[in-house]
Amino acid sequence: MTVPIAPAPPTTLVIFGAMGDLTRRLLMPALTNMTRLGMLGADFSVLGIGIEPGDDAALRGALSDFRQQAGSHATPDQDEAWSKLQQHIHYIQGDFTQDAVYDQIKARVSGNAAFYLAVPAKFFGDIVDKLADHDLTREQRNAFRRIAIEKPFGHDLASAQALNARILAKVAETQVYRIDHFLGKETVQNIMTARFANMMIERVWNADCIAHVQITAAETVDVGTRGRFYDATGALRDMVPNHLFQLLAMVAMEPPASFDAEAVRNEKGKVLKAVRRYTPTKARRNGVRGVYTHGRIGERDVAGFTESPDIATDSTTETYVALKLMVDTWRWAGVPFYLRTGKAMAIRDTEVVITFKPVPFAQFHKTAAEMLPPNRLIIQIQPDEGLSMDINIKRPGLEVDTAPIALDFRYADRFDIGAMTGYESLIHDLFAGDQTLFQRADAIEAGWAAVQPFLDIWAEEGAPDPYPAGSLGPDSADALLERDGFHWHSLAPAGNTTP
Ligand code: BG6
Repeated sequence: MTVPIAPAPPTTLVIFGAMGDLTRRLLMPALTNMTRLGMLGADFSVLGIGIEPGDDAALRGALSDFRQQAGSHATPDQDEAWSKLQQHIHYIQGDFTQDAVYDQIKARVSGNAAFYLAVPAKFFGDIVDKLADHDLTREQRNAFRRIAIEKPFGHDLASAQALNARILAKVAETQVYRIDHFLGKETVQNIMTARFANMMIERVWNADCIAHVQITAAETVDVGTRGRFYDATGALRDMVPNHLFQLLAMVAMEPPASFDAEAVRNEKGKVLKAVRRYTPTKARRNGVRGVYTHGRIGERDVAGFTESPDIATDSTTETYVALKLMVDTWRWAGVPFYLRTGKAMAIRDTEVVITFKPVPFAQFHKTAAEMLPPNRLIIQIQPDEGLSMDINIKRPGLEVDTAPIALDFRYADRFDIGAMTGYESLIHDLFAGDQTLFQRADAIEAGWAAVQPFLDIWAEEGAPDPYPAGSLGPDSADALLERDGFHWHSLAPAGNTTP
């Protein structure tokens, strides 16, 4: 069933960091798609704020140049949408750490406004303070004022709590839209649909039937030009309490009573709060971190992390992390959740793999129950978005013998989701006032609380376990599952899921 999207209410989108990377790479392509699809109201406008000298024409020109360089899906209808969108883009040149620019914003904004902080995290608190102090965040009956904040939201539990407290001292939680771009991905949203629109899935979705869950975000990209940011951040902070925990929450949450934002966010919050908080000893046993060394990814020769630009040569930052987590609820008692993510790996693959328990008894001559491969549901988040299920069938022939096969669905075979950035639905919901796909303060803090024991122990330790660029991560990550009698799902191109 397709539900037509109503255009968003008239809104001024004020973007701090108008000429920055996020605006060019994601926000503008998303707004272009939204223009093409009629998702923006007629009175929509963008007010970009940046330190770079220039005027409206300069901002439009800079964004157009980037579009051309990036060759951003330049189909004729997108070109047309971009020309239309451009007319609604305006610029204020100014320093957002100073008061003057907020006076200018005030003179230009009336009615609904969403302030998008596409700037480094260290400015979040100051910008919100200044917006509030200039009376830009006060909502009126017919005018909302909202703030969209990108990650990283905090650096650890204490800093996330402090940032939430600082922001919520000035604006209400209902005005804050903390973005996790994974929630804009169709396949991530589909986890809830797969679970709650299918009786045969949800009925077996528990510790009675599921042996373990794996959540993987493997990337082939290396640190590239992001050295300064990444050396201070590392794989755990960059990916786990945010993106991977959003996947975990979607997989492990109880069914919400409705799809209202608060109902969904309550359930996600509950499950993140139920992730077991490890003692230092337990964290040491259940966490592995790695760092890539020199290697090859396809045709590409990749320098080791510590030899890369802007990385301290004695850096102990991890580029890979694998964790075994437990979710202490009735539904998930005893079911391990294994999470892994890394840079400079052999294959790009983000997936959730649910492995079911073996059948209790099998009466086949050739295959004992313990020899039957377990059923598996593989939710392929990206690339090659899809869903597949491994089941056993009878091998044709006179003897009763079994064969494992995969039932395989690929989005690309049925739908066109390729041209979207994932930000379209998030921006639409920001304007429409739907917070379902945004993170609430308590969930952010619960995520940090669960990873804090790992941050604490690793802050005291030396170099992570090495793995060559172009491999599947350090051997110690394999050992984390092997001691429980499991193996990582092998990362393979879509449609070619091997046991
Ligand atoms: C970002 C991280 O939040 O997510 C990056 O900072 C990472 O390091 C990226 O590469 C992954 O997102 P996606 O959508 O490319 O899987």
